[in-house]
Amino acid sequence: MPANVVANTDLEKSLDTSDEWIRTRTGIRQRHVVDRGVPTSDLAAVASCNLLRQRGILASEIDCIIVATVTPDMLFPSTACVLQEKIGARNAWGFDLSGACTGFVYALASAAQFVHCGAQKKVLVVGADVMTSILNPKDPNTYVLFGDGAGAVLVEPAGPGEEGVLDFILRADGSAGKYLYMPAGGSLNPASHETVEKNMHFVHQDGRAVFKYAVQGMAEVSSEILRRNNLRPSDIALYVPHQANSRIIDAAVERIGLDKSKVVLNIDRFANTTAATIPIGLHEAYSQKRLRRGDLVLIASFGAGFTWGSLLLRWSL
Ligand code: ACO
Repeated sequence: MPANVVANTDLEKSLDTSDEWIRTRTGIRQRHVVDRGVPTSDLAAVASCNLLRQRGILASEIDCIIVATVTPDMLFPSTACVLQEKIGARNAWGFDLSGACTGFVYALASAAQFVHCGAQKKVLVVGADVMTSILNPKDPNTYVLFGDGAGAVLVEPAGPGEEGVLDFILRADGSAGKYLYMPAGGSLNPASHETVEKNMHFVHQDGRAVFKYAVQGMAEVSSEILRRNNLRPSDIALYVPHQANSRIIDAAVERIGLDKSKVVLNIDRFANTTAATIPIGLHEAYSQKRLRRGDLVLIASFGAGFTWGSLLLRWSL
């Protein structure tokens, strides 16, 4: 997480909003934000270097880098290439994956396939976003919801007696793109004075529609993955949901029938960091010793696209 913390009360000074509104509607109390101009790859590099240290390997041992992000440093080269250079992963190839808030789940499932088929042995999966770079600081509908951050995991072949990634469900519905999008900056609306004047380089969303579909989507893929693996909600040791709104998480958790004590919830401190929420949640749970070897972990997310998905894994550390 970047060091700067912006509390809801700080936003009251520049936006037509209040700490009470943000807390009761979203569960957010504060968010971490970068200094202007700090790119996504900087946050990704810190998370990746911490990971390499913790795992005790060199960057040159990484085979592949997947960066899930909607805020790449530039449209090209990919942030994966920028990160490769920053951390010195000279033997890795890599690419960016645009799955919005579901980006990390898509990326983790993709990495697991590269490892499962034997093509790669060490895939670095990073979820990283500098959301403040694409938010309108004058728009209370969106600005209060997000923060900046990054997290990383390393996907490797399971050892004897280990299981790792057990199953995943990935979904998309392109007809819902209109509910959450950034209209300009791509080939459809290349940057121009007009696109800047019309605030088209910022996030636009229909919050209510996103809310409704997010609850349905996260609950649907979480329940289905349990059902098809013959598991009950009580078999799950830890549920790591995307952090968009504590009310979305509460409603989804109730529909799935999960015990609230098993849910990772840190939106109060970090807000919605898009592709980074789940690896940050995993990191916190691991650091707080909420994860033990052999635990069944369920992760689930929902985001722009719409995209959504769940992934079931057995923790092996
Ligand atoms: N401060 C004060 N008032 C605000 C703010 C704000 N920051 N933002 C909106 N309002 C106003 C609205 O303009 C509206 O005013 P009106 O009644 O005069 O029209 C009023 O508050 C109520 O708006 P609602 O839409 O009814 O509020 P709701 O309870 O739905 O909460 C929210 C809004 C928090 C955006 C909610 O819909 C939400 O979280 N949706 C999901 C959006 C999201 O998470 N997007 C992130 C990316 S997608 C993902 O990660 C899943």
